[in-house]
Amino acid sequence: MSSKLRRAAKRHPARDRAPSEEHATPQPTCMPDSARPCMNLLPVHPGQRYCMLFQQSLASIYTTTAEGRILDCNEAMVRMLGYEARGDLMSRKASDLYVSTRDRRDFLRRLRRDGKLVNAECRLKRKNGSVIHVLENVNLLPDETGKLGIIHGNMVDISDRKHAENVLLESEKAHRLLAGELRRLADRQEAVREGERTRIARELHDEFGQALTALNMDLHWLSGRVQDGQAEVDARITAMTQLVGKTAETLHQICADLRPTVLDDFGLVAAIEWQVEEFRRRTGIRCDARLPRKVRCPLPKEQATAVFRIFQESLTNVARHAHASEVKVALTIREGLVTLAVSDNGRGISPRRLADAHSLGLLGMRERALAWGGAIDVSGSDKKGTTVTLRLPVGPGAKECQS
Ligand SMILES: Nc1ncnc2c1ncn2[C@@H]1O[C@H](COP(=O)(O)OP(=O)(O)OP(=O)(O)O)[C@@H](O)[C@H]1O
Ligand SMILES: [Mg+2]
Repeated sequence: MSSKLRRAAKRHPARDRAPSEEHATPQPTCMPDSARPCMNLLPVHPGQRYCMLFQQSLASIYTTTAEGRILDCNEAMVRMLGYEARGDLMSRKASDLYVSTRDRRDFLRRLRRDGKLVNAECRLKRKNGSVIHVLENVNLLPDETGKLGIIHGNMVDISDRKHAENVLLESEKAHRLLAGELRRLADRQEAVREGERTRIARELHDEFGQALTALNMDLHWLSGRVQDGQAEVDARITAMTQLVGKTAETLHQICADLRPTVLDDFGLVAAIEWQVEEFRRRTGIRCDARLPRKVRCPLPKEQATAVFRIFQESLTNVARHAHASEVKVALTIREGLVTLAVSDNGRGISPRRLADAHSLGLLGMRERALAWGGAIDVSGSDKKGTTVTLRLPVGPGAKECQS
């Protein structure tokens, strides 16, 4: 114990009174006796001034012994705890004000360990039994024997704030639950949509594809039976054969767009290669792809589909919005992580577009990535192009297959 602390203890007014006096007639102990009759005069005595501050404070102020005897408290404390008079409150033990004895034990343990508490929160019981939350600053000071046994504290009622925090927490929890449900719903819809696409592609391919093949064969058969001098019939058959051929091509294209069989048959890398080729063919834009050499990558089908659809949307956006002359695609599939980057040298995406909540394409990409615990980063600068980067964690089964 430092001599400074001891001197402070000697000066502390709480020890000037005998314990019996305090219970009998609780008085504001910080006020010297000589000052008490002069309450309505200008407070010139420093003790008087502090006494007024103590009594007028909006914060609750108290002094207790470590054993829990309340030596002093101000009016704010009496009001906060719902007592009629100071004497009423001071006849209680500090430990009775706590919601549980564990809270009091914990308070004392921390106070003894650190010598003070700053912005400590605790729950107290009001006279009518209701519970309030308080925020307090507390100091452990020496008593008349020099032993650290006096507790000085001031506190404010933060019940309203606590209540607002709890309401906010609850609403955040409900919001998270709802967001989770919406995401699961979106995932489910996506899975259903993908299933539908596959089914329609298969039916189109099987039904119309076979019918067109049969038509083609019949036309071939007919053209072999055209007699000399039937040039008009021959021309019709040739035109029909061309039309059937074109229709078959269109059908093939529609089926591939609905669900590229290459994705199911050969996996993600092959599907991306195919899509790059299609993009070059359809747009005439140069497209350079760096893809893992190994063709089969250990991505579950649903994850591969998500990556592929994100890739398709990125390329569609380049074709529709970028005015680019070149696109670079880089795919890596490493243990635990798939990274796909699509960069163009076009006009660049503006921050306003990026923040637009109605941009469904970008939103769809983000949702797809999020559904698998991944994330999309879109960056672009004016006339310097746009880069869309997908990072997707993959299961422990994923093996290194980057060249
Ligand atoms: N590569 C890009 N270069 C420049 N601007 C882009 C690029 N990609 C997207 N944008 C801008 O971001 C906007 C939002 O893209 P998003 O894909 O969300 O919507 P969209 O392509 O306009 O419509 P859709 O819902 O059919 O995809 C686009 O309208 C475009 O202005
Ligand atoms: Mg789009």
